[in-house]
Amino acid sequence: MFDSVFLDLPPLQSATGVVQLPGSKSISNRVLLLSALCQGTTVVHDLLDSDDTRVMLTALRQLGCGVDVQGTTVTMVGLGGQLKQHDALEFFMGNAGTAMRPLTAALAVLGGDFTLKGVPRMHERPIGDLVQALRSLGCSVDYLANEGFPPLKIGKPNLKMDAPIQVRGDVSSQFLTALLLALPLVATKDIHVDVVGELISKPYIDITLKLLSRFGVQVQQQGWSRFTIPAGSKYLSPKDIYVEADASSASYFVALGGLAATVDKPLRILGVGAASIQGDIKFIDAAAQMGVQIRAEPNALTVWRGNWEVQTAFLKAIDLDCNHIPDAAMTLAVMALYAHGTTRLRNIASWRVKETDRIAAMATELRKLGAKVQEGVDFIRITPPTHNSPSHTGWRFASIHTYDDHRMAMCASLAAFNPAGLPVRIEDPQCVAKTFPDYFEALFSVAKADTVNIPVICIDGPTASGKGTLASMIAKQLGYHYLDSGALYRLVGFAASQVGVDLDDEAAVATIALQMKIGFDRDRVSLNGIDVADNIRSEASGMLASKVSSYPAVRQALFDLQLGFRKLPGLVADGRDMGTVIFPDAPLKVFLTASAATRAERRYKQLISKGISAKIDSLRADLEARDARDQSRSAAPLVAAKDALMLDNSNLTIEASVTQVLEWWDKKFSRFAPSQL
Ligand code: DC
Repeated sequence: MFDSVFLDLPPLQSATGVVQLPGSKSISNRVLLLSALCQGTTVVHDLLDSDDTRVMLTALRQLGCGVDVQGTTVTMVGLGGQLKQHDALEFFMGNAGTAMRPLTAALAVLGGDFTLKGVPRMHERPIGDLVQALRSLGCSVDYLANEGFPPLKIGKPNLKMDAPIQVRGDVSSQFLTALLLALPLVATKDIHVDVVGELISKPYIDITLKLLSRFGVQVQQQGWSRFTIPAGSKYLSPKDIYVEADASSASYFVALGGLAATVDKPLRILGVGAASIQGDIKFIDAAAQMGVQIRAEPNALTVWRGNWEVQTAFLKAIDLDCNHIPDAAMTLAVMALYAHGTTRLRNIASWRVKETDRIAAMATELRKLGAKVQEGVDFIRITPPTHNSPSHTGWRFASIHTYDDHRMAMCASLAAFNPAGLPVRIEDPQCVAKTFPDYFEALFSVAKADTVNIPVICIDGPTASGKGTLASMIAKQLGYHYLDSGALYRLVGFAASQVGVDLDDEAAVATIALQMKIGFDRDRVSLNGIDVADNIRSEASGMLASKVSSYPAVRQALFDLQLGFRKLPGLVADGRDMGTVIFPDAPLKVFLTASAATRAERRYKQLISKGISAKIDSLRADLEARDARDQSRSAAPLVAAKDALMLDNSNLTIEASVTQVLEWWDKKFSRFAPSQL
């Protein structure tokens, strides 16, 4: 997951391959609640692991439900419709509407002493219509702050089920879903629920009804205006249940394929398809109307773009009522950036009460990208930036604000295919964790950029100058990959000495370099499957590395391996020749130095803290000997690249060095948008 403050997406070119999508949020949270309420044990397969499902799982554990999580398989021991927990409980619902609404209803009908609260945005999301319906049923629900909004206090009910329960359907369909999930718990007689106003997001109600039926409750339906829960309804575990992938999450990849995959190299999306019970699957019809080519199988989609080139041609603009696909319709708004003409998305008032006011948010951010946008109470009109001028001048670099809204972040990533070849900055990228924690990893696994457009920051310098710490901190801050090239030479030296190769035999050492199987994973460095991080960090390994790194054949053997680290979204590489030999086209090169005395002292402290005894004088002598060797060797000697920026960090804290490099990086970036950074 990307937990950097922002993520810069380089301009993207194409997309192909296969993505497996995570489970649907709506289905996951409904299934979790039903499994908790029903009688019996349920094994839930392919559950989404995200912020919102974690919120639900925590609440269900608090209620005393047995929960055993093994990856994406969760075994739930149901409460059999009875709460075991009678003490006062406080539930934190984050910003998860799919947890807040149904839990409120279920807890209100069962009764207890409960408080439900969430993040500040949750306290701005309406719940009054649900509370009113629950009160009419005799539930005790009070507002702890603002009338009509969480946080809520729930007490013991005095249920009266004679009259039909009325609930508004035109603000959020989650109110009706919440009632439908809760009422079977108390259906001693037939319970009627009447929908007041035009029901929005009907497909979500369909999901609710289908899942209720999987758990043994058959709701009777009179159109979309009356729902009856038959007397004696009782939840029974289906034993095993599979969560299908999220159709709204699929929309980003359908759009991606429609923009950037070709018929001979299409994009395949696994986990959701024509047989989906989710309404948002209808997004594929809208995408097809815009010109995306789609082949739908029951549980998979294959997507490619029409007969046009990203640089010269367009999707078709549409004018569409999007009430049936409220979440996925956001993706259409971004696709409209690539359409010929003006796209209008109508009947989307529900966008205003989601994670953020999505109409306002979308309008603001698309305008930053250069689009002309008009917003109304329940519609948005988007005219794309000009495409057809040779310089595509209509497009702008933008730092996209994401409003703690996962869909804003995922949508915005599609702007990286802009024909002007501009990068896109996504603020707070980890907000995708709400439904799709690995969204960007999935995107980068299928999207391709021209290599020259994948940024590399090189940090070269002598031994113990602090390159490694600086480079890895910069990589973390930017969400980039990290290459510790010194570790590669250390690995070669270590591997060669392990198998007893003569270290004076250049060709034999180079063969080792070509054959070794290495892996980097956070602090672990593996050689042929064995963790050797500590072995290669020793001073002795450093000396071996210095020796083998002077061989041209070894350097050549490691050349392609190092180039292979240049992957989306970018790379920070540290070593001696990153800027001079391996990545000469890197947009930022830093040459990091510190006095020999400072470096010896740092190395000394490092060793002592690890419990390794050392002498500062001999460390300094060793460092100077290695400097001399690294600088005087004929193969890629240690020198600063001509275009490197010099940073002497003898008197700087690591934080100050990081700040300096990030400032330089922002300066490089500001050529795209002087005013936005
Ligand atoms: O940075 P380090 O101490 O882990 O590097 C170990 C040795 O590898 C060092 O003596 C120089 C050599 N090296 C190199 O020649 N080229 C690089 N790009 C990185 C390290």
